[in-house]
Amino acid sequence: MKIENTVAVVTGAASGIGNAVVRRLVAGGVSAVGMVDLTDGISGAAQQVNVDAGRDVAVAFQGNVTDSAFRAKVFADMAGRGVVRICVPAAGILRDAMAVKVDRETGTTELYDEDLFRQVLEVNLMHPTYWTMEMIAGIARDRAQKGIGRWTAQEEFQGSAVLIGSVACRGNRGQVSYSSAKSGLNAAAKTLNIEGAYHGVQVKAIHPGFVATPMVEQLPDGLFEEHLRKMVLIDRKIEPAEIADAIVAMMENPIVSGPVWADGGFPPFA
Ligand SMILES: NC(=O)c1ccc[n+]([C@@H]2O[C@H](COP(=O)([O-])OP(=O)(O)OC[C@H]3O[C@@H](n4cnc5c(N)ncnc54)[C@H](O)[C@@H]3O)[C@@H](O)[C@H]2O)c1
Repeated sequence: MKIENTVAVVTGAASGIGNAVVRRLVAGGVSAVGMVDLTDGISGAAQQVNVDAGRDVAVAFQGNVTDSAFRAKVFADMAGRGVVRICVPAAGILRDAMAVKVDRETGTTELYDEDLFRQVLEVNLMHPTYWTMEMIAGIARDRAQKGIGRWTAQEEFQGSAVLIGSVACRGNRGQVSYSSAKSGLNAAAKTLNIEGAYHGVQVKAIHPGFVATPMVEQLPDGLFEEHLRKMVLIDRKIEPAEIADAIVAMMENPIVSGPVWADGGFPPFA
């Protein structure tokens, strides 16, 4: 899929991986990118991208990715700049706790909070799936209006999305909701990839390891440096720009169907 002169939507774009993806897409020559985030920092982030790029390429949207009316508005607004053909739904949250907590003194037990589980599934699994579906729908409508049917390999690719999973998709202590959501992204990406092929759209999943972003700063003090670092082959955290490079490479290369591990070798011998 060609990046240059396309219109993109990136969620979680105020921070970390989402922000790095925006910058990589802009460097790759996208004509416009919708930058979506819950925080009001998104306006300043978009302004900074435009200043750094020296062109009016980024448009800020502040809202919750789980709000379907907000999602529809973002895509409708961006459609004014052209059909949205790239989607990287990077917004994500951690709400870590043990699945079953046992009080050692009383022997009583507490299950992981159900509302938190729903929230994590909504943000980390449903949102990336629906934002990608919204992109596919826009491409499908455009093709229908032009009277074009099933996509063939003689045409250019029409769209690309990369869903951001995690190494935690293999299951991880203290991450019953996050791991479940990230694991679900494999099936969502595969399904949308199969269905999207009719319209010339590829959907892939990437599974990063420990990336130097505010999300990883939420880990308990010293956990990475003292315990996890020795299990990472590259002996450091991954930079967000490295994940952004991998995402764009996956989009540009049609033979990569995903899922791709981008974990710096974690664990190195598994
Ligand atoms: N950092 C890592 O080590 C790591 C590893 C594997 C996967 N990931 C995944 O990469 C993605 C990006 O993570 P990051 O490390 O850049 O995190 P981050 O916390 O730096 O950025 C996430 C952004 O998403 C936004 N966001 C959260 N909930 C939102 C909502 N409901 N609506 C709109 N915006 C919302 C936040 O405001 C924030 O700006 C996430 O899906 C995360 O699960 C991160």
